[in-house]
Amino acid sequence: MKQLTYIKNGGYDVLQVQEVADLTPSNDEVLIRVHASGLNFADILARKGQYPDGPSTPCVMGYEVSGVVMQVGSQVTGDWVGKEVIALCRFKGQAEQVVVKEMQVYEKPKRLTHQEAAAIPVNYLTAWVLMVTMGGLSSDESILIHNAGGGVGIAALDIARHIGAKTYGTASSRKHEFLADRGLDHSIDYRTKDWLEELMKLTQNKGVDLVIDPLGGKEWKRSYNALRSTGRLGMFGISVASTNTRGGLAAKFSLIKTVLSMPKFSPLSMLDKNRGVFGVNLGHLWHEPEKAALWMKAILKGVEDGWVKPHVDKTFTLEEAEQAHRYLEERKNIGKVVFSISEN
Ligand SMILES: NC(=O)c1ccc[n+]([C@@H]2O[C@H](COP(=O)([O-])OP(=O)(O)OC[C@H]3O[C@@H](n4cnc5c(N)ncnc54)[C@H](OP(=O)(O)O)[C@@H]3O)[C@@H](O)[C@H]2O)c1
Repeated sequence: MKQLTYIKNGGYDVLQVQEVADLTPSNDEVLIRVHASGLNFADILARKGQYPDGPSTPCVMGYEVSGVVMQVGSQVTGDWVGKEVIALCRFKGQAEQVVVKEMQVYEKPKRLTHQEAAAIPVNYLTAWVLMVTMGGLSSDESILIHNAGGGVGIAALDIARHIGAKTYGTASSRKHEFLADRGLDHSIDYRTKDWLEELMKLTQNKGVDLVIDPLGGKEWKRSYNALRSTGRLGMFGISVASTNTRGGLAAKFSLIKTVLSMPKFSPLSMLDKNRGVFGVNLGHLWHEPEKAALWMKAILKGVEDGWVKPHVDKTFTLEEAEQAHRYLEERKNIGKVVFSISEN
């Protein structure tokens, strides 16, 4: 089978499609023929060596797939064989085959293509934990979604609209029209304007009830300052560290600079201002499969009810991995980028 190997940390030349032996599931595993696999910002950071949770190289990235179950281990019910499924994987999803634990597998909703289904797990689970589980967003509240045009951003917009909250989002200006059509109440061009000033103008200096922030560094302090009383800040990424495409020492230096510029939140300030801060890292929730199953059930019900609408912007083959990585890094994507892998 074919897999996309990240042979070492670095630029696009470290991405190589390799032929390797077919996989066999162990006792509690399921073997999936992968039809589509999501590309995430974390894969870009991992390529460049900026992702502390990434596997050591050479490695195969890929956290999520959609495909068909080919074979199951001895402890797994044979009912799965032949079923179309979505699965979360701890890497290795950007390949023609992947093996995962049974508890990470969910039935694929029939109304979605494999490409759309592969766009669900990481983006929607992250947004769900940020907004529902930890952020507690309600219909009388407002939210600022940073990177609203990215994969998590569009998932967050679906959830916020389902809840009925007022929505503000930051994104490059070329994405604003799409976001307005998708129901975002106010877009802010954070690349040419000071987003905090714009948000304060739009909210008559009140701020918002929830900010979800994948930018990191100093931006977390600014997002904290954008909260109104009883507001919450959910931190979940450090995209500001991604300043070049090469990886190596420059990328490591940028990561260290970002970490050093992160704010320290004072408990007394939070108490006096009635504000809260929390963090979300989906990659550190593998030990909570029961919780993940409940969140996923709610999201898949959203697919059935028609308000979870994953938007696949562009698909690439594994051989086009360089173009796929470039597309994300050049901020061209609106919604999800997916590898289209096998058809049958
Ligand atoms: N903690 C978690 O569990 C978790 C899970 C999923 C994702 N994340 C994080 O959430 C963020 C968004 O993920 P995603 O999958 O939604 O992203 P994505 O779909 O890959 O979208 C990336 C978008 O982010 C914006 N962006 C901001 N800073 C950027 C930079 N330095 N370089 C390139 N693009 C940049 C760009 O759009 P605009 O410029 O138009 O805004 C770009 O199109 C990432 O930081 C990711 O690591 C965290």
